[in-house]
Amino acid sequence: MQKLYKIITYGCQMNVHESEKLAGMLESLNYKMTDDTKKADIIVFNTCSIREGAVSKAFGNIGALKQLKHDNKNLIIAVGGCMTQNKQDALKLKRTFPFVDIIFGTHNLHKFKQYLIDFNFNHERIFNIWEREDGVPNMTEVNRTSGLNAWVNINFGCNNFCAYCIVPYVRGRERSRNMDELINECKGLIEEGYKTITLLGQNVNSYGNDINDANLTFANLLSTVANLEGDFIVKFMTSHPKDLTDEVIDVVANNPKVSKAVHLPVQSGSNDVLLKMNRGYTVEHYLEIVNKLKQKVKNLNISSDFIVGFPGETEEDFKKTKELIEAIEYDNLFAYIFSKRNGTKAANMADQVPYEIKNRRVNELLNLQKTIAERTRNKLVGREINVLVNTFKNNKYYAKTDAGRIVELAGENINLSNFYKAKVLAVDHKKITAQKID
Ligand code: SAM
Ligand code: SF4
Ligand code: F3S
Repeated sequence: MQKLYKIITYGCQMNVHESEKLAGMLESLNYKMTDDTKKADIIVFNTCSIREGAVSKAFGNIGALKQLKHDNKNLIIAVGGCMTQNKQDALKLKRTFPFVDIIFGTHNLHKFKQYLIDFNFNHERIFNIWEREDGVPNMTEVNRTSGLNAWVNINFGCNNFCAYCIVPYVRGRERSRNMDELINECKGLIEEGYKTITLLGQNVNSYGNDINDANLTFANLLSTVANLEGDFIVKFMTSHPKDLTDEVIDVVANNPKVSKAVHLPVQSGSNDVLLKMNRGYTVEHYLEIVNKLKQKVKNLNISSDFIVGFPGETEEDFKKTKELIEAIEYDNLFAYIFSKRNGTKAANMADQVPYEIKNRRVNELLNLQKTIAERTRNKLVGREINVLVNTFKNNKYYAKTDAGRIVELAGENINLSNFYKAKVLAVDHKKITAQKID
């Protein structure tokens, strides 16, 4: 009988892509994907540890499978990802969920296939978390599930140790992939017909910093990928402001195949908070970069992440964050309530901000962004944009901008999976309406 698998993914795009690698390994063992939890022979949780909420959600959902496992003794449950890479959570999982069969971490994700083969052979529980990263595993078995977009890891891990962040502890030190290998992977993906290549890293701008070769920079990599033959665009995420060079800005500005959507997390608009966060830049430096981007990049779409309620954040600090948002007028932003992560510097800082204040501040930021979006929305009307058609539904074509906004596209001779230039006719909070122009 055909064996079926289901993967449940939490967290960032890095995890979304790693789930594609887990799926690749499962498919190579002749498992097929299902959405139906009850029909699955194996359920894999690819977890996240960035905030407490992500961890509680994963524990809750894993716990909810107890009955299913009781009813179906052959069901295999596996848990991996950033949460299991955290020792405390891994031990809690091991002790309190004895029905979980395979527990692995981020550093040994590439060994998952072997663990499953071993488990199917001897049915002995596997608990294997590697303490350290082991270079850059070359993983070729990938079952891509993101439509016309292909994710490509360019570097793994992070060296920045922002005071609030668990990522360096669960993903290890920064390791860049070999450039030739990367270019070959991108070439292959374009030949296969992928229309968007998204270069992934916790900080793409520091690509190559761990290798002694002056040519190995993100600017070089980005322009080399964008100059490959074919009809596609290159996106990238995430950019750390302290490492975003003028060369990268120039590649974004001048290369038509590079996406104009730049996600540039600032976290706070207060220099005092940025210093305590160990972000490595000031508000003035950040504004300088954003101004350069705005001057040089036509059709720039800029977005950011914010954390509210970092320990010691005063009303005055918070006011500065709102002023920064007003000054920049982001196209989109993500605002998070500071979540204490054991082992990080901020977890032990004095002046933790009470939940009610954090909650009020996050809502204020989200409302502020809504007001700005309403005010600035119409700026797009009349502009020429590039869109990629991905859906035909109810007799209408839908496309996406390179920033991921939905576009209802009118016009003649529209084909799925094609790029078109279009003129924006109207914009509301849900979608852009546009007319194809060539
Ligand atoms: N490497 C990227 C960067 O430097 O911006 C992304 C890191 S993380 C996957 C995405 C976002 O989660 C961060 O930009 C930050 O706003 C938020 N974040 C990280 N740790 C957090 C914490 N302890 N509490 C709340 N939000 C957090
Ligand atoms: Fe976390 Fe900072 Fe690294 Fe981003 S740059 S992953 S926020 S430590
Ligand atoms: Fe991503 Fe969450 Fe890990 S945001 S890197 S999956 S901690």
